[in-house]
Amino acid sequence: MDAIEIIQTKRDGGTLSKKQIDWFIKKFSDGENIPDEQAAALAMSIFFNGMEAEELTNWTKAMVDSGVTLDLSSVGKPTVDKHSTGGVGDKVSLILVPLIASCGLAVPQLSGRGLGHGGGTLDKMEAISGWTASLSEEKMLTQLREIGGIIAAANEDINPADRRLYELRDVTHTVDSIPLIASSIMSKKIAEGTEALVLDVKTGSGAFMVDFEQARTLAKTMVELGKNSGMKTVALITSMETVLGNNAGNALEVSESLEVLEGGGPKDLIEVTLALAQEMLSLSGVDLDPGEVLASGKPREVFEEMVSAQGGDLSKGLPVADYRKTINASSTGYLSKLDCRSVGVAAWRLGAGRAKKEDSVSPTAGIICLAKPGDYINAGEPVLELHGDTEKCFDPAIDALEGAIEISDSSPDDLPLIMDKIAI
Ligand code: URA
Repeated sequence: MDAIEIIQTKRDGGTLSKKQIDWFIKKFSDGENIPDEQAAALAMSIFFNGMEAEELTNWTKAMVDSGVTLDLSSVGKPTVDKHSTGGVGDKVSLILVPLIASCGLAVPQLSGRGLGHGGGTLDKMEAISGWTASLSEEKMLTQLREIGGIIAAANEDINPADRRLYELRDVTHTVDSIPLIASSIMSKKIAEGTEALVLDVKTGSGAFMVDFEQARTLAKTMVELGKNSGMKTVALITSMETVLGNNAGNALEVSESLEVLEGGGPKDLIEVTLALAQEMLSLSGVDLDPGEVLASGKPREVFEEMVSAQGGDLSKGLPVADYRKTINASSTGYLSKLDCRSVGVAAWRLGAGRAKKEDSVSPTAGIICLAKPGDYINAGEPVLELHGDTEKCFDPAIDALEGAIEISDSSPDDLPLIMDKIAI
């Protein structure tokens, strides 16, 4: 067997056999035998020609087998996780993990750092003084057993094939291929060892999958891969037409998550969080009302425990930016559009996100939406509050907001946040 023959098969629209896939992924993840250009050529061939269902299942399994799989059997509780395809202001995990842990389940959330205009969960948590994302496997298991939730970085031995392939996809513009995205996400979640998984597939201007039908296809592909690997999986498709909640940016999102955990917070964020929580509980056979559990205050205590167990100290407060600027309404009327992607790009340019994986992010930069679509606003009133660490970071962010805000005489249609559910 050789790499050329495998690339040729896929380039010409053929289907790779399990043997070819296992051989390629093994050699590739060993790090020496398949050069980057051959792996990139195969990724590009998959990008153009897609994969058959069985071929994709084999590909995903080979990715899982490229590294270790966590054994969560000693945790002694049912395990369930959530994965979001990412969006602007998506801080749901910070509320959901302690909420589900408060229901007696264990949530082993291994997460990533953000790249591009969407924020990463680890970046948000790292805005908390002293908090560390890296946990040994032993500590993870202890924390899951004792507290019920972790948010942590995946260890390097999990799925090395995905880590290497994702870097190549990033620089060869082959990220947005449904089979490659689905196998990348699901192989990491399967290797994490969770028994059940709820996917939050975002769609709309601020999402990876702007188009609803594309989001549905991705969701179906991932749910199918979950089912084929024996992991109970469902997906919700949720809207990312505007920022989720009011805050986008690392410390700003921690602060808003604390508001929700303390009984307040914006209703769109609460709605999405509770819908995902309900799916997680149902998949695990737990008959509790997540809204009541949230209102009990227990998840706030669990969050504190999770943070302290990973070295964090919420009593030190969250860092705040030195500079602020507002963007004001140019006329009076209903805010009919607040474009999600533009706000995400602006927050990124302020310093909340990174362009390359080596870049650092600002814990304090970001944007607070002082008005959301549907709100009535007078000319001159602030719509957005931009937070930055330097004076000069504002101009590029303001450029990104060109055309992002629309005000009209009539209230915009109230579109559903939870757009669909995929369960097979
Ligand atoms: N997130 C992932 O983990 N992998 C992808 O391919 C895309 C988004």
